[in-house]
Amino acid sequence: NKVVLAYSGGLDTSAIVPWLKENYNCEVVAFVADVGQGADELAGVEEKAIASGASSCYVVDLKAQLVNDVIVPTLKTGALYEGQYLLGTAVARPVIAAAQVEIARKVGADALAHGCTGKGNDQVRFEAAFAALAPDLQVIAPWREWHLTSRPQLLAYLEERGIPCSASITKIYSRDANLWHISTEGGELEDPWNAPSSQVWCWTTEPEQAPDTAEHLSLSFHQGEWVGLNGEAIDPVSAIDTLNQIAGAHGVGRLDMVENRLVGMKSRGCYETPAGAVLYAALQGLESLVLDRSSQDYRIRLGHEFAQLLYDGRWFTPLREVMQVAAEKLAEPLTGEVVLKLYKGQITLTQKQSPNSLYSSAFATFDEDDVYHQHHAEGFIRLYSLASRIRALQQASATDP
Ligand code: ARG
Ligand code: SIN
Repeated sequence: NKVVLAYSGGLDTSAIVPWLKENYNCEVVAFVADVGQGADELAGVEEKAIASGASSCYVVDLKAQLVNDVIVPTLKTGALYEGQYLLGTAVARPVIAAAQVEIARKVGADALAHGCTGKGNDQVRFEAAFAALAPDLQVIAPWREWHLTSRPQLLAYLEERGIPCSASITKIYSRDANLWHISTEGGELEDPWNAPSSQVWCWTTEPEQAPDTAEHLSLSFHQGEWVGLNGEAIDPVSAIDTLNQIAGAHGVGRLDMVENRLVGMKSRGCYETPAGAVLYAALQGLESLVLDRSSQDYRIRLGHEFAQLLYDGRWFTPLREVMQVAAEKLAEPLTGEVVLKLYKGQITLTQKQSPNSLYSSAFATFDEDDVYHQHHAEGFIRLYSLASRIRALQQASATDP
């Protein structure tokens, strides 16, 4: 028996390695997804996996895939879960799950394991992806089976087996990071009446402490894809990091929300997505120039539905492909440049231009024009309101004595 475990190097997955070996009598292959969670988390991860008892450890760089296959297409849909969340954790799941399945095929494994709890969204996202990509593989979710319920218990479990672990006995928050975002849950945040402490925020400066001078950024886009920063061509994979630094320093990209989990409960999370917040705002600005009214309305509804689909772990479905094709088409005219101002946690769009702009000052002007005849509006309003007129006349005659 061989199991491929999505391994992070943290306390939970370190305990899962010996637990799987003992309870499933199997060999454990560790799989580490590098989704840009940072050098700290990845340092020495292979050695840790082997020390925990894994037979081998694969570290796979998934940063480009995460950006090109999920983040860029998702941005084009305008997805925001429950109107606020940029889905920073959810975007990484399809990429991680697919790479894990690939490793399982390569090493000839018969099962997949993950360290998600039985209370969250992530278990659903991973397992829905596994079901679509590898329906033949068994899935093991130790958190739903074992009786270890606290960090001291996990540490004792490792100690009894002589497995070294540098994890601390207390850890306040549950965090998830990738190149796009970091989430913080747990600790005092579990009470929505508690304001987040200063330790919650990792990537963003407290807006009050942000620089007193605003920073202006110019972002260029080609068909909905980010291609330039301040006039220089960029590669989005590395430029997201740059933009995170710039925007984070101005306190931009914070979200503190209570959301509805797929599994039914509400949870409170603090999310930091500085680059994402800037890119989202910039694309909205371009959209406002180039999409006609009904296309824009459709894009808004598409973004809502896509957010739900991605949040709920339905990435590997025909529906996602259909929505993605629609979003690509809608994003075709999104070429141009946007200038934004970052100041103490705020993003303000100050300038926008596009060769595909439908904005016509000739039509919109309050001054005299020769393209639009105001008397055409009269007939339009007459027909547009005809049903109201008929109803009113009918009601008037019905109440006549
Ligand atoms: N609530 C967010 C989501 O479902 C963040 C989840 C964070 N996941 C984690 N394993 N810490 O997308
Ligand atoms: C977890 O329960 O593993 C993290 C939170 C979530 O998946 O929603």
